[in-house]
Amino acid sequence: MKKFFIQTFGCQMNVYDGQRIAAMLASRGMTETSDVSDADIIILNTCAVRAKATDKVFSALGRIRRAKKTDALFGIVGCVAREAGADAFRRIPELNFVLGPQSYHKLPALLENPDSKLLNIDLGGLEKFDDLPRMSRSPAVAYIPIQEGCNHCCTYCIVPYTRGREISRPFDDVIQDCKHAAETGAIEICFLGQNVNGYKYTDREGRTFRLSDLIRAVAPLPAVKRIRFTSSYPTEMTDDLIDMFRTEPKLLPFLNMPIQSGSPDVLTRMNRPYDLNLYIDIVDKLRRARPDIQISSDFIVGFPGETDSDFEQTVDIAKRIKYINSYSFKYSPRPHTAAAVMQNQIPENIKAQRLAELDAALNELQRTFNESCINSVLECLYEGPDKTGRHMVYRTPYMQQCIVAGNPDNAKPIAGIRITAANKASLRGEFAD
Ligand code: 5AD
Ligand code: SF4
Repeated sequence: MKKFFIQTFGCQMNVYDGQRIAAMLASRGMTETSDVSDADIIILNTCAVRAKATDKVFSALGRIRRAKKTDALFGIVGCVAREAGADAFRRIPELNFVLGPQSYHKLPALLENPDSKLLNIDLGGLEKFDDLPRMSRSPAVAYIPIQEGCNHCCTYCIVPYTRGREISRPFDDVIQDCKHAAETGAIEICFLGQNVNGYKYTDREGRTFRLSDLIRAVAPLPAVKRIRFTSSYPTEMTDDLIDMFRTEPKLLPFLNMPIQSGSPDVLTRMNRPYDLNLYIDIVDKLRRARPDIQISSDFIVGFPGETDSDFEQTVDIAKRIKYINSYSFKYSPRPHTAAAVMQNQIPENIKAQRLAELDAALNELQRTFNESCINSVLECLYEGPDKTGRHMVYRTPYMQQCIVAGNPDNAKPIAGIRITAANKASLRGEFAD
């Protein structure tokens, strides 16, 4: 029996793409292996968001080309494939295929004709969703992409190039995917999109559907206990969606809504032309709709031209909004982006200093929030055993990790957990009943 090896880097969108590829290979009678040297087909499912992510892929490729069987099919899919294109074959001549994030459904063509080389980095839109078999069983958290690409064109971001312009999937297709996931094991539905709250689909009769309509349609499925979505663009947070936090208890009280910077000047150069007062108003509205809601953000420090005072405004807004669970990155110039050729690129040592300062502030906010959870009971979703295999790892509604002591064989898929201890990174708890 033939075996495949697949390694996924990057965002949840990639995790989903990786699951579709695995389901396709499984439907052809192949089994998955975690040992590259034993695999007949090797796939790296790649991320290009920062230079470091791309470098990681090329160093993994270097390792794998030495470890693999000589006749194994070997290739990359995803954002680095799109970023590097034919150049990937020049850098790693052993590669058999280079397929972009919207063309990996072309992989079966190579399986039919394994002696060829396959390059396809076209933007095929939604084709891939129809062309591949579904997973036969869903994990407890089902990631359901509702759109591809992004129309915002932030000047630092390679994604509009790697994944193309934004296209929303048909409403009925998304609902079918959710029903299938719910029938095969999903407890949580997480809607995915680069600009998820901008979802907008108009059907043949001229009816328009938004993300709030998707949430309303999925919430009645009895197997679905939790719903969330990621990642949101601030100005697309419309009132119908904010209202869902008031009316739909299955919608988790947690929202990732990246602000990126707290400086109006930097935001303008990032081509994120929103008013910070509008952002703060949206957060206030969300808190009125759902008093226990928490917000997380992504931040970029050291964007071209960022001054000390711009940076201080970022730290200030982080403290003002009291973000939890946030991600922060040093600006990384990417090909095909406007910011890469801007004047006043910031030296690496200043980026590193600013990142350390911002991280210290974000960690403090996270610790404060984690400690505030002690003694409360949170409904948590079981994720799996911890590294020792002796404890259970749960995920709170705020995406915190919570360790519950005890044999993973006794885990409940979803359970009320009383939080007993907290630090910056995680919580500890016990079953509440
Ligand atoms: N450099 C650093 N961080 C970036 N991100 C996107 N592009 C870049 C870049 N060129 C970050 C943003 C985004 C997250 C997914 O990655 O913060 O929200
Ligand atoms: Fe990485 Fe962005 Fe591509 Fe996701 S969409 S894999 S984060 S580059």
